[in-house]
Amino acid sequence: MSLRLRAGLITTAVIGAGAVILTQGAAFAASPASPASPASRAPNSHHSPAPASSLRALASQVGLRIGTAIDTDALATQSDYRSIAATQFSTVTPENVMKWDAVEPTQGTYNWAPADQLVAFAQQNGQLVRGHTLVWHNQLPAWLTAAAPSMSPDQLRAILKKHIVDEATHFRGKIWQWDVVNEAFNDDGTLRDSIWLQKLGPGYIADAFRWAHQADPKALLFYNDYNIEFTGPKSDAAYALARDLKAQGVPIDGVGFQTHLDTQYPLPDLQNNLQRFSDLGLKVAETEVDVRTTLPVTAVEQNAQVGGYTSTLQACLAVRSCISYTVWGFGDAYSWVPATFPGEGAAAIYDENLQPKPEYTALQQTLALAAGAPGRADPRR
Ligand code: G3I
Repeated sequence: MSLRLRAGLITTAVIGAGAVILTQGAAFAASPASPASPASRAPNSHHSPAPASSLRALASQVGLRIGTAIDTDALATQSDYRSIAATQFSTVTPENVMKWDAVEPTQGTYNWAPADQLVAFAQQNGQLVRGHTLVWHNQLPAWLTAAAPSMSPDQLRAILKKHIVDEATHFRGKIWQWDVVNEAFNDDGTLRDSIWLQKLGPGYIADAFRWAHQADPKALLFYNDYNIEFTGPKSDAAYALARDLKAQGVPIDGVGFQTHLDTQYPLPDLQNNLQRFSDLGLKVAETEVDVRTTLPVTAVEQNAQVGGYTSTLQACLAVRSCISYTVWGFGDAYSWVPATFPGEGAAAIYDENLQPKPEYTALQQTLALAAGAPGRADPRR
């Protein structure tokens, strides 16, 4: 199919949906929060008025779920944030409110309310939820961090099992993908020296998947990590883990590639890497995409950011078992990056004022091109 014909298809598809008229060269000018008629609703957006040019409507044409991490404080207080969250994305991930310190701040006393509110928001807007995360070394409740070193392995194992079973049971039937275990490896491919490894040994990973599956048999269970986008020892270690878990019959369904990129570093060979995990019979997902850079952003850096978003989305689109592409927050004002990497930022697809950036347009155009390309029309999920 020629480029010209492909472009024609995209124009027809979008105009046919009745929401946006494209002009050559100015295609996909973003209208992220604008209202649209019911006729413009995408197949997987039954409850919210998503414009046909929205990321979620375009992604649904190629059977891809497009998601974002959600800052639930912003969701509760800012209507423009809420509007973009509802209309642009077909999955949401709680950025913090399903983590252990948030759900069980005092031992035995659960606070599900913020996460329940996000799940309700997702249901109202026809969105799926990525649960994040059941087992991690970070954001543990203070009571656990204080007590764990003096606990016996049996005690700690019972506490971990209770946490996983209670949380997965609370949300049973409402979570599409769970990040069951998060960031278990160091960059050199050795297992991270967490309290879990120290006390329970490497078997805690398989146990966590088994317990999560018992509690919510229909959820897709993922191992999730950063820097495994890049080929090398860490990616190889995650690959070996996934392969071994599958071989042992442990209920793992997929691997999440966080994909926190920085313009200082080369882009990963993500497509081939996703494909080799896929060849194990697993689903894959990009779960926390952002592309940070040094501030202030130069034109060269912004081009690199656009390239980062474009190429990571293209990689997911090229691998059939890549079921979702999630950005780690959509607005620069809410990004975790400036607090963690001083002097860096601008990592998101909307600016500080929630205006769409060229990075947003790059995702839009990449999805639209995929919808017009041969072999991409069958919804995968
Ligand atoms: O909960 C306290 C709150 O009580 C207090 O009022 C507030 C004051 O600043 O701090 C709150 O805790 C913060 C928490 O986010 C909730 O807002 C922590 O200080 C802050 O460190 C924490 O940062 C989160 C970080 O994980 C923690 O590691 C980021 O928002 C979140 O984006 C980030 O997400 C991780 C993924 O879960 C895993 N992959 C990497 C990714 C980026 O680091």
